[in-house]
Amino acid sequence: MKICCLGAGYVGGPTMAMIAYKCPDITVTVADINEARINAWNSDELPVFEPGLDDVVSAARGRNLFFTTDKNKAIKEADIIFVSVGTPTKTYGSGAGKAADLKYIELCARDIAEFSEGPKIVVEKSTLPVRTAEGLKTVLKANSRPGLEFQVLSNPEFLAEGTAIDDLNDPDRVLIGGEEETEAGRKAIATLVDVYANWVPRERILTTNLWSSELSKLVANAFLAQRISSINSISALCERTEANVDQVAYAIGQDSRIGPKFLKASVGFGGSCFQKDILNLVYLCEHFGLPDVAAYWEQVIIMNDWQKRRFSQKIVNTLFNTVNGKRIAMLGFAFKKDTNDTRETAAMYVGRDLLDEQAVLAIHDPKVSPDQIFYDLKEKPTDAEGKPNKQIEICEDPYVATQKAHGLAILTEWDSFKDLDFEKIYENMYKPAFVFDGRNILDHEKLRKIGFEVFAIGR
Ligand code: NAD
Ligand code: UGA
Repeated sequence: MKICCLGAGYVGGPTMAMIAYKCPDITVTVADINEARINAWNSDELPVFEPGLDDVVSAARGRNLFFTTDKNKAIKEADIIFVSVGTPTKTYGSGAGKAADLKYIELCARDIAEFSEGPKIVVEKSTLPVRTAEGLKTVLKANSRPGLEFQVLSNPEFLAEGTAIDDLNDPDRVLIGGEEETEAGRKAIATLVDVYANWVPRERILTTNLWSSELSKLVANAFLAQRISSINSISALCERTEANVDQVAYAIGQDSRIGPKFLKASVGFGGSCFQKDILNLVYLCEHFGLPDVAAYWEQVIIMNDWQKRRFSQKIVNTLFNTVNGKRIAMLGFAFKKDTNDTRETAAMYVGRDLLDEQAVLAIHDPKVSPDQIFYDLKEKPTDAEGKPNKQIEICEDPYVATQKAHGLAILTEWDSFKDLDFEKIYENMYKPAFVFDGRNILDHEKLRKIGFEVFAIGR
């Protein structure tokens, strides 16, 4: 059997690497139009940082895992074609700011129709609005030739960045939606079930109709994000009432009906998907004439934006209502630990707010590149004359970042931050030395004993 995947991004790369690793008899080819990305997948410096990914790729690459820019050949040869291209929020025309932009999906469908020479199973791996498969089937059918037959399946991905390899290796469930009502549909579903059954217990492989599968992905992300916005809303109430949000989260999480996960109050959720997928859900609800349902889910985003803004405002207010010319050390820039991904990271919004207030940012992140940070902050490393940016310094060393800083803000929960020598940091900061722990990861009592003024989320 031959599998190909269009899109070698955060999802396509690791997911296909895992299939190839677990199924040595299946040839897996990952194709992308981005040559630099493919070159990176073929090198020792993979384009995605994920714990454990290097081992999985190096075990399978060259054996039965290949990365290529020749998507037409990959399509031609494959029995199963995964589509794992981006589905960003539309920035133009109708639905701008909410609907998913499906142009990359449609281009893939047209390529698949054009370059296929036999029957194919086409698998939606990207996160898509419910009923996208309908459009996909229409494009494939309209461009079909005799001998070509396409079955469309939905197989959304639930991995989280930073734990992608563990999630793929031992998923809570695999979801496969297809045309349950036809013989050909059931056969296609069974074919994909058999691929995953190479390592996932069959009882964890769920099969549904196409629309349930497509919608379940959006709903899963909406429910996860809703928990974060819910606990973040309570964090504000905790700050007014001397309740401690971590204690509240623990107390409610012990109720088995609520459960302990995804109740960590924070500076706000980031990542490429929560916001985009909820906006997509909101758009769908509006489209299907359900404005009250749309408003209900939109509130999750509104609360998240408020939480990010509240954090930067807290820094400004605490530093005597001005950060003009003051050095603020920002520790962490990725949207969560153990990833180099900064898409929609809370750090970017807090950073931009502080720059608007004329602060000087000294930013340290163990994995994010300086270029990426400047890009996200809409700034350049140097001015027109080649002089370094006066408002932003990127520091490889967290101790350099905190030197002569008025405030230290934790934006990402990197484990390494917990082990910093805070006595040394305190010595080198301006006094009063303020810590703003946007992830509640530091030992606040210890910091107060050293002399810091500590502000945390929900305490
Ligand atoms: P990404 O931007 O990292 O990767 C998408 C890749 O597709 C890019 O490298 C791009 O060059 C390539 N591409 C675009 N058009 C192409 C074409 N016609 N042929 C071949 N390649 C093409 O995106 P991602 O983070 O991997 O996300 C992909 C999808 O998976 C999205 O729908 C996203 O919502 C979903 N998803 C993402 C995550 C995550 O953790 N990032 C998790 C679950 C689901
Ligand atoms: C999320 C989902 O967890 C995945 O199941 C899904 O496949 C993926 O989105 C997707 O569709 O893209 P991801 O965004 O990679 O995964 O990471 P999460 O662990 O969900 O974290 C998202 C954000 O929420 C991060 O900024 C994180 O710091 C924040 N978060 C998470 C909290 O603030 N509190 C929590 O309790 C949990």
